[in-house]
Order: sequence, then C-alpha cells, then structure tokens
Amino acid sequence: MQLPDLKEARKRTNNKVDYIYENKKVEKVLSGKKYFLKTYGCQMNVHDSEEIAGRLERLGLTKTDNMEDSDVVILNTCAIRENAHDKMFGFLGRCKHLKETKKDLIIGICGCMAQEASVCEEIIKKHPFVNIVFGTHNINELEELLLKNDHKLDINVYSIEGNVYENIPYSRDSKKTAWVNIQYGCDKFCTYCIVPYTRGKQRSRKSQDIINEVKELVANGYLEVTLLGQNVNAYGKDLEDELSFPELLQSVSDTGIKRIFFVTSHPWDFTDELIDVIKNNDNIMPYVHLPLQSGNDHILKLMGRRYTKEEYLELVKKIKANIPNVCLTTDIIVGFPGETESEFADTLEVVEEVKYDSAFTFIYSPRVGTPAALMKDNVTLKEKEDRLQRLNTIVNKYALINNQKYQDKVVEVLVLGESEKDHDKVYGYTNTMKLVNVNAPKDVIGKIINVKITDCKSFSLDGVIIDK
Ligand code: 5AD
Ligand code: SF4
Repeated sequence: MQLPDLKEARKRTNNKVDYIYENKKVEKVLSGKKYFLKTYGCQMNVHDSEEIAGRLERLGLTKTDNMEDSDVVILNTCAIRENAHDKMFGFLGRCKHLKETKKDLIIGICGCMAQEASVCEEIIKKHPFVNIVFGTHNINELEELLLKNDHKLDINVYSIEGNVYENIPYSRDSKKTAWVNIQYGCDKFCTYCIVPYTRGKQRSRKSQDIINEVKELVANGYLEVTLLGQNVNAYGKDLEDELSFPELLQSVSDTGIKRIFFVTSHPWDFTDELIDVIKNNDNIMPYVHLPLQSGNDHILKLMGRRYTKEEYLELVKKIKANIPNVCLTTDIIVGFPGETESEFADTLEVVEEVKYDSAFTFIYSPRVGTPAALMKDNVTLKEKEDRLQRLNTIVNKYALINNQKYQDKVVEVLVLGESEKDHDKVYGYTNTMKLVNVNAPKDVIGKIINVKITDCKSFSLDGVIIDK
C-alpha cells in the first residue's frame, strides 16, 4: 500500500514528465458485467469519469444507472466542493450495505480525495470493504488494478504526478459537445487550494495531440469543444518550443469546429493577445470564466493570487471593450482567514462593478497541507454564512439583469437533450453558455438552432425555435 504524501507532492522539481502514447491491447474479459460510476466535483472530474468509463467499457463492462444492479462501483471524488467528505463516506455506507448481499461487488475510489493520506487512512480503518483506491495520476492503471484485485483493499495512489497519456479511450457523455484536456495540474499554489497537491504540477499536452483530438472530434460530428485545464492560459509554459495558449486557441479555431469554450482562466496570464484571438474568431465563444476569489488587495495577497483589485478590474474593462456581449463568470471565496467586514465589502464592490453573469461562491474552508490552513481562521461560521448570503443576493440580482437582456432576442442554441423538467421541451446552451429550455421538436437534439427568447430567469432562459 502506498499512501499519498503532500510533502512529497511539493518536492516535484526533478520529476520528469514522459509522453506515453498508449496502445494497449485490451480483451473484453469482463463482458456481461455492469458498472456504476458516481462523480462529484468539477469538469475535470467529469472528464476523468469519461476516461474511467472508457477503460471499463474496453474491458466489456456496460454502464448502469442502478447501483444495485452493478458488479463494479466507482466513486470519483472531489476535495473542494462543500461536504465532499461527508458525501463520499455517506455513499460508502450505501456501498457497504449492498456488499453485504453481493459479495463479489468491487468498489473503487478515486479522484482528488483519494490523493489525501487522511482519507486513505480512514478507508483502511473504517471501510476495509473497499477494493481499489487509485489517484488522479494513475487512472491509466484502472484495468490492471481491477483485474488483479483479490477482493482485498488495494491502495495505489502516488504523491508525485506521472506521465501524460495519449490515446485515452474516452467514453464521452455527449456526441456533440466534448471536453478536451489541454493541461493537467497547476503551478499557481494559491494558498487555500489543494489542487496543486492532488493533481500535481502543470503538465501541458503537446499542441499537436490536442489539435489531432479536436480534428477527430470534428470528423465524428462534434460541434463543440471545451478546452480544459486548471489554468488554461498558462498552457505551454512548462514546455520548450510549444505554442502559447492564444496560439493553441487559434489552431483549434482553424480546425473548423463550430464552437470553442475554455475553462478556467487565471487573471494573471490573461494577455491582450488572448483577447485578440477570441475577438477575431467567430467560433471562439464570448464566454470568460475569470475567478476573482476576493476583491481586496490584502486578502488577494494572502491568497497568493498575484493581482490587485485594480488590475483585475482593468482586465475586465479590456475584455468587455473588445468582446461584444461577453458573458463573464467567476469564483469567489468568502471568509478567508482574517477577512474583515470592510475587506469583504471590497469583494461586493467588484461584483457590483463587473456585474457577472453568474458566480460560484464558496465559504472558505481549510484544506490540510495548504499554507492557508495554518493561518488563523478567525471568521466565525455565522459571519461566513452571512457574507455568502449577501454576496449571493447581489450575484443573483445581476444574473437576472444580464439574462433579461436576452428578452425577445434570437440566439443560437446547441440542443443537447430533452428538458428534465418539461419533457415536451428540449434544452441547450447559447454561445454564452446560458441554459435555454426550448419549445421545439425532439429531432433538433444535437443541432444548433435559432431560438427566440420568450422568458428570462436568474438561472435559465425559455425560448421557441424559429427555424431548423
Ligand atoms: N475553500 C473554499 N473554496 C475553495 N476553492 C478552492 N479551494 C477552496 C477552499 N479551501 C474554490 C475557489 C476555486 C473553486 C474551484 O473552488 O474559488 O476557484
Ligand atoms: Fe487552485 Fe489557484 Fe491553481 Fe486555481 S489557480 S487550481 S485556485 S492553485
């Protein structure tokens, strides 16, 4: 058993990254078996789950949405979102129950929480019925781990990141919109954030591999890609003679894919060249997710964010001036250690000024092993909750105001499926990532259609199709 070690994860300068072009021959030795996959957390995790699904399907397993029906259960965990810990161990309770009647059930745990030694220790002590634990650096070992498992707990989590794998057998959820990783890990080390430890240092994929993947997606009928990374605009900085992010974006645009999104950008690496590339290419969508985290210079410094409130606002001004109708979204943390009421007021001021289309808002919570966890967390939970509520009220106000600008407008929507709430409708997204429920026949699913917006709410729009 190999437990991850955050201190090891920090000593990573000498760790060489190899680019491995997988061409394993995998037999469908588990045909007839079913898998149930539960995913928590961010887009990165969702896309990792598409890799896990692809690897399981290569072995012959088929997907089931009913856990009771499955032979393999995999839990892809998140270390950031609220209650991640409770949710995961709550879910394990259900798994234990199922295993009492299904002795051969294989239970696997992976993702960011698996990278935390304390979580592995808790599994060893309290949940030894788990079969496989693997981390974010070795998803590629899943097939072997599964086949060699002898129904005993087997922990295989590495502190230090491994290689960059190509030819990954993704089983994508959608046939029209695809996540495409452009880099793994993060080198920014914001003081509150566990990601540089759980996902390792930044490793960019080679641009040619990314472009080839997008070309193949286009050839297979995909209309949209979202380029994925913790810090996409730092793309290529870890490689010699590699394209910059704006150059990569231009090359992806040149493939002719209809719509390109990218997340997440760090304000620090957001250059004028990048703004120009977005402005000059119709297939790069006017959508920028630009985490603010705090609007106060002192807190930003403690967070290690490397920009000031003024610099951030200057950048937003430039983005808005150059990219017409841009949709701006953000991430904000309230109650960072030592945050005073007037420092929090600076955050509200930025939100009032930027008028974001939407925001993910978080109450600060310490992550063991990060520098901020050693700072005195002197903001009470009540104050944190109160700040979150006040922040959300303003965020929601602007979400509605921004959405109301769409009233009676005609917008293009990529239709992804039947609407969950109303089966007579379909749902999709605008080129600014707004969710729209549309009155339209089902045969438009998978197409980009023109929609006239008839009603605007804070979190979605309603519309009717005006042509096919
Ligand atoms: N506490 C609260 N929020 C956090 N985030 C990251 N780490 C923490 C933490 N320790 C938030 C940040 C980041 C988003 C993905 O999660 O806002 O951008
Ligand atoms: Fe975490 Fe900061 Fe990296 Fe984002 S940029 S993943 S917040 S360390």
